[in-house]
Amino acid sequence: MEVSNLQKAKRILEENRQLNILKMLEKLTGDKQDRLANQIIDLDFEQLNRLYNMAKAKPEILEKKIEHIKYVDKNKLSEEDKNTYTQIGEKIIKNNEYAVVTMAGGQGTRLGHNGPKGTFMLDVKPEPKPLFQILKENLERANKKYGITLQWYIMTSTENDAETEQFFKENNYFGYPKEAIKFFKQGNLPLLFTNGDLVLDKDYTIKEAADGNGCIYKAMRKNGILDDMKNKNIKWVFIGAVDNALLNMVDPVLLGLTVAQKHQAGSKSIAKNSPTEKVGVFCKANNVPSVIEYSELPKEMSEMRDENGELLYGEAHIMCNVFSLEALDKISQVDLAYHVANKKTNYMNENGEFIEVTEPNAYKFEAFIFDAFNYFDEISILRGKREHDFAPVKNKDGNDSPNTAKELYNNYWYNK
Ligand code: UTP
Repeated sequence: MEVSNLQKAKRILEENRQLNILKMLEKLTGDKQDRLANQIIDLDFEQLNRLYNMAKAKPEILEKKIEHIKYVDKNKLSEEDKNTYTQIGEKIIKNNEYAVVTMAGGQGTRLGHNGPKGTFMLDVKPEPKPLFQILKENLERANKKYGITLQWYIMTSTENDAETEQFFKENNYFGYPKEAIKFFKQGNLPLLFTNGDLVLDKDYTIKEAADGNGCIYKAMRKNGILDDMKNKNIKWVFIGAVDNALLNMVDPVLLGLTVAQKHQAGSKSIAKNSPTEKVGVFCKANNVPSVIEYSELPKEMSEMRDENGELLYGEAHIMCNVFSLEALDKISQVDLAYHVANKKTNYMNENGEFIEVTEPNAYKFEAFIFDAFNYFDEISILRGKREHDFAPVKNKDGNDSPNTAKELYNNYWYNK
């Protein structure tokens, strides 16, 4: 006898002691019940249980061997080296072997903008522009310079996919060749209350959230992006954030350096402005390239300097990365570690009342893009310049906000 989806879902919930959701499933009828049952059947409870145990476990004391990592300062390169790297990079770019990916699946919680972050209007000169348009102008300049059309892949999430695509359509793709743009969606993971219960959303579905920018590699594999790149003979791929108004997505020096050093991945850094700046920095952790978060770097280490007075752990990761397609193929098949964040999440209680909360009450699980660096023996790091490369839009006000980004953008383009 065939077991109905409803029975299957009930059994799964019982086995995993998700009794609140079970009660709700039993109360629901019709489409709502079918939808919830199907969603439960599709969940990977083994993974969820593992993630929950990890979130509950006491944080392990960091016992990694942390060491300085070598970098190259773009502004101190000899003319000769700079030319060599530029030529290597430009050859690949002109050959149409280079593509660009923008990670635009985040929630932008800190900015608090209503809509995908790329749709945020930055009040720059000569007229306000959405972040997506600022990125597009960067690509357009490269297209013009090299006589090519860069393929532009944009990662969205369930939450913002429809709105993002609609925004591009409404704006006629900002004049970028439509056929050169491809959207793909990243995955989700359910949120868990701190007691391990799944969270029910307003519409009686299990509440999920984007699974972090580190899931981009798997999302590129799953959505056929890696295959598409292979078919287009792309060899090198840039992956960067949506929220940096000065992000240089086509820097032949970064690409050329990575190729010349025979590495599979390269990343641009900027020098931390002080030991206390809240940014992740490059290092070697247990002998492999890593980014260590500011919260994990012991104070004494954050203040250590080399013989030139530079911070020993001072190269900030700015989400400006290049990978060979082969490297992406490899990383898309490994499971990067998940990180846990405590989040405030509104929910539907077992009486069908929607509860709005003011304090964190749930765990969110995210993978981080830079954890992929651990899978290489070495990567290339090119130090850029804050004024040239980094104008992040993270917070509503203060540091790394639209005001600071606007100023950096205007200074770069209009006061050079
Ligand atoms: P952040 O980690 O700064 O997150 O993302 P965010 O969503 O923009 O902002 P907060 O933390 O909620 O305030 C850095 C880059 O990674 C992308 C973002 O869109 C941004 O380009 N990202 C982040 C994803 O694409 N997916 C994710 O799941 C998370």
